Amino acid sequence: MTHPWDPASVPAPSTSTGSSIPAGTAAPRGDGSAGDADYSAIGAGYRTYRRPDPRIAEAIEDALGTARTLVNVGAGAGSYEPTDREVTPVEPSATMRAQRPSDLAPAIEAGAEDLPFADGAFDAALASFTVHQWGDLEKGLREMRRVTAGPVVVLSCDPAALDRFWLAEYAPEVIATEASRYPAPARIAEILGGDVEVRELPIPRGCTDGFGEAYFGRPEALLDAGARTANSAWSFVGPEVSERFVRELGADLESGAWDARHGHLREAEAFDGSLRLIIARP
Ligand SMILES: C[S@@+](CC[C@H](N)C(=O)[O-])C[C@H]1O[C@@H](n2cnc3c(N)ncnc32)[C@H](O)[C@@H]1O
Repeated sequence: MTHPWDPASVPAPSTSTGSSIPAGTAAPRGDGSAGDADYSAIGAGYRTYRRPDPRIAEAIEDALGTARTLVNVGAGAGSYEPTDREVTPVEPSATMRAQRPSDLAPAIEAGAEDLPFADGAFDAALASFTVHQWGDLEKGLREMRRVTAGPVVVLSCDPAALDRFWLAEYAPEVIATEASRYPAPARIAEILGGDVEVRELPIPRGCTDGFGEAYFGRPEALLDAGARTANSAWSFVGPEVSERFVRELGADLESGAWDARHGHLREAEAFDGSLRLIIARP
């Protein structure tokens, strides 16, 4: 397999905020999207493809400990919101707020960088698959710390481990995009301070939350355009990358070349990818 793309043309990952967007410059879109991705364009099918995975939910529940009240920042359609705690969701995008199930609390329209709550208002805070999109990572995390008396829990990806996923062979531009967006867990830990634990979360087989690596053992599923749209990284690469990906992966699946290299993943119980749970206790 050959790639017309030159890896040297992709900007190096930022070492400051982890975001490719300079701090505080992400412009709100028509639906209020406050991060680097435009959810008015890509958000509509989110809930179809990004259903919370029960095994990841269990790890989050464990990290939240005995907290009774929780603020969920960048809450989106409500994934990973516990139903047995008092949850206050915060979500800037109207497209995402509109997808919240009716049995969850409606989300407050706000961004992480300016949370409309008093100091120590919540027992715990959660941010899942969102910090890499914020215009100002440091401000957002400091706000989470400010409004939370107990653990701040961040579900995110380690940019240094993204290339473990076979997608790097087919769409290195997508991996490079993600590497430039995701902040290093150590950077998140440094900003949040206190007693910080970084847990590596293996991605479970059949993961129902369709972030890229969830498809580690089901490559055919990523040929679905909707599955790719539900991963914001694909919105930063041109359509030619998607077209080449579908063409080359499709051909390798048909010829058996993908299975010869990665077929063992079809039966694997889990994949040690880039998923990390960062728990900062004051
Ligand atoms: C990939 S979705 C994750 C949603 C949800 N937390 C989940 O796990 O499914 C990222 C979310 O972060 C939100 N977001 C982006 N920038 C934000 C910011 N500056 N403050 C708060 N939320 C933001 C987006 O609007 C979007 O709903």
